[in-house]
Amino acid sequence: MHTAKISGAGHYVPERIVTNDYLATIMDTNDEWIKERTGISERRWVENGDGNTAATMGTKAAKKAIAQSGLETSDIGHIVFATISPDYYFPGCGVQVQESLDMGTIGATDIRNACSGFIYAMSIADAFVKSGTYQHVLVVASELQSPFLDKTTRGRNVSVIFGDGAGAVIVSKANKGEKGIMSCHTHAQGKHKEELTMKGFGTQHWIGELLENGIDPDIHYPQMNGNFVFKNAVVRFEQVIGEALKKNDMTSDQIDCLIPHQANLRIAQFIQKRMGLRDDQVFNNIQKYGNTTGASIAIAFSEAIETGVVKRGDIICMAAFGAGFTWGSVLMEY
Ligand code: COA
Repeated sequence: MHTAKISGAGHYVPERIVTNDYLATIMDTNDEWIKERTGISERRWVENGDGNTAATMGTKAAKKAIAQSGLETSDIGHIVFATISPDYYFPGCGVQVQESLDMGTIGATDIRNACSGFIYAMSIADAFVKSGTYQHVLVVASELQSPFLDKTTRGRNVSVIFGDGAGAVIVSKANKGEKGIMSCHTHAQGKHKEELTMKGFGTQHWIGELLENGIDPDIHYPQMNGNFVFKNAVVRFEQVIGEALKKNDMTSDQIDCLIPHQANLRIAQFIQKRMGLRDDQVFNNIQKYGNTTGASIAIAFSEAIETGVVKRGDIICMAAFGAGFTWGSVLMEY
């Protein structure tokens, strides 16, 4: 059995900044409400015609991650791509990255675990490397959500929260003595599948229905029972971080940096308080990017490295919760 580690990270966000004040010009909302309930000041939304898609943003993040790892694309053995906003209904975005980066015929796995997507993707990459199947796996998480949001007052409880962007890491075989990824934990509870969902355009709500009846917001836009999601999120985050610490016989004071999925600043602050973590032990950037679903941890991790918050040797805990419900954590020495 081998050990896996992260050898490189990168991220990309679209240039267009969408402020809370701008949103207040297109729907009945205001900066104060959004900041107070979510912590978000601005987010990035793609601009029509700027060429950004989940696959192209993911490719840009992937290039940076590969460059940071010092590897060549030819060193990568497999791609795992997490998104719930793919370019095509099928095939998934993984093959698009493979084509764009000229990666021969390596395999590409696509997963769609929403806000937990990056954690699920990491757990798959970790297993591939641990088992000796591949030496280096490219993990990409990318979301292009802005076109699918209901940007009217009706959809304001959802649309003010979400943003676009991508992050990527390279999961590589660790050298002898390196701790690397110590554990990955993933969970799901399908009975809550409709508490946070976009039902269209699954096969139960196919295109004919749309052509016949027009847009039905309950089906064709994301729906979220915000309060219920919040209450479940805080419990599951704490549980799954606790699970990681217990598995590794560690305590929360040994975490140098907790990178929670950037769901809502209030959720992150709640967990921080419950776990007794100091401000410098938690990294948040939702203020600038909103909730970028599967991509948020990957973007935050890459930015934390870029800004010197996360350094080699640090103990990092990543944790996510989202639609499904699904949740999970990764504990590692970076
Ligand atoms: N601007 C202004 N007012 C808004 C608003 C907005 N963007 N969105 C909702 N409101 C209004 C509601 O209409 C409601 O008005 P009413 O009291 O007159 O009926 C009021 O604000 C309170 O709405 P409610 O939905 O109860 O607010 P909340 O305190 O639960 O906050 C969320 C809403 C979405 C911010 C909160 O539930 C939340 O953060 N949930 C977790 C969401 C999350 O993290 N999702 C990602 C999971 S991965």
